[in-house]
Amino acid sequence: MKAHGSILLVDDEAKIRTLLTKALTEDGNEVVATESGREARRLLGQRLFDVLLVDNLMPDMTGLDLIRDLAGGTIESERPQVLMMTAHATVESAIAAMKLGALDYLQKPFEIDELLVVVQRALEHQSLRTQHRYLLAERDEEFSHYGIVGRSRRMQEVIRTADMVAQTKSTVLITGETGTGKELVARAIHARSAERDRPLIKVNCAAIPETLLESELFGHEKGSFTGADRQRIGRFEMAHKGTIFLDEIGDMGLPLQAKLLRVLQEREFEPLGSERSQRVDVRVIAATNRDLRQMVADNQFQEDLYYRLNVIPVVIPPLRERREDIAVLVDHFIKKHTQRAGKRIDNSEPGVLERLQAYDWPGNVRELENTIERAVVLATGSASAPSATTSPSTASTDRLRES
Ligand SMILES: Nc1ncnc2c1ncn2[C@@H]1O[C@H](COP(=O)(O)OP(=O)(O)OP(=O)(O)O)[C@@H](O)[C@H]1O
Ligand SMILES: [Mg+2]
Repeated sequence: MKAHGSILLVDDEAKIRTLLTKALTEDGNEVVATESGREARRLLGQRLFDVLLVDNLMPDMTGLDLIRDLAGGTIESERPQVLMMTAHATVESAIAAMKLGALDYLQKPFEIDELLVVVQRALEHQSLRTQHRYLLAERDEEFSHYGIVGRSRRMQEVIRTADMVAQTKSTVLITGETGTGKELVARAIHARSAERDRPLIKVNCAAIPETLLESELFGHEKGSFTGADRQRIGRFEMAHKGTIFLDEIGDMGLPLQAKLLRVLQEREFEPLGSERSQRVDVRVIAATNRDLRQMVADNQFQEDLYYRLNVIPVVIPPLRERREDIAVLVDHFIKKHTQRAGKRIDNSEPGVLERLQAYDWPGNVRELENTIERAVVLATGSASAPSATTSPSTASTDRLRES
């Protein structure tokens, strides 16, 4: 099939502009012609063209200058294919143009047929580039949902549940091993909810000593205990009309569990040392890597609280049970960390992905991300970077090459 497209023609000779415009238009293309390099630059900043056909020697600026501008200033995907025309048999400038990404050059005088063939080829290139970009964007869209990447059936299910529960104010309990993305999912739910403009307040129940956790959650009045030298607003109050994320809920002690249960039941609480009850309207999302059901059986977790939390359960499977996610995650993290490190990585080294897919990932997605980040940072143009590794996969990703 023949490709057609939009062409920006830049030549200071009126006769050539007329002749080429006629031929290219008759061939089915849209042609915009200008005599000036500066005007061309303005047009290129204004709209997209598929092909830029430019004469090298013009009075106001050379074609090469224009090509250099284009290479430096625009996003690659929005760049037209560049063809240079040169009358003065200056092969050097044609080579310089091609180094800057021009596809081909034509030496004047040339036959119209020759021009049409070269333009046709440029249009085909451009159409492939567009298709490629479209497919990449579509794939990213399909497998990434608020930053949750995963093509496996089970992750698609997690994403669907998160989407549905975001439309409600129901309490959510997210469980999964360390590094499976519990916090990521909690944030995604909040971000999709009607309360997304309200705060998401996180409390890490494992990081705060039990004695302080109560005042952290519910606040306290001035003088309510030694060291309470001023009043403090609790996290529940901060989260009013928004979301409170109770992370590592399995690490909360039994006495505090009872107080939390009351908040979930009555939607009110008293700050430490306070007489007044305070009403709160919050969505609760809790997360843990522990087996709460087993903890209930062992009398380490209040049964009532467990049922109050487990209204909508979201179970995130470990990475080793959804190995089909590894390839898309690797792509995602390479993109993320090469951008951060300002590097370009060619990950076409054979066998790397297979080894990443075979490994068991006890630290799940976090471990995979750390491995990729390390590989990206250590990647050099030369031989494999040395490393002291614990995971069998790391050695293979060290062979990612900078390109
Ligand atoms: N499906 C995913 N797609 C993209 N990134 C992910 C995914 N799952 C996890 N990550 C990334 O992995 C890292 C760990 O995720 P997160 O902190 O949400 O895990 P967690 O389950 O809360 O772990 P822990 O139990 O150790 O607190 C984060 O940087 C997160 O962005
Ligand atoms: Mg976490």
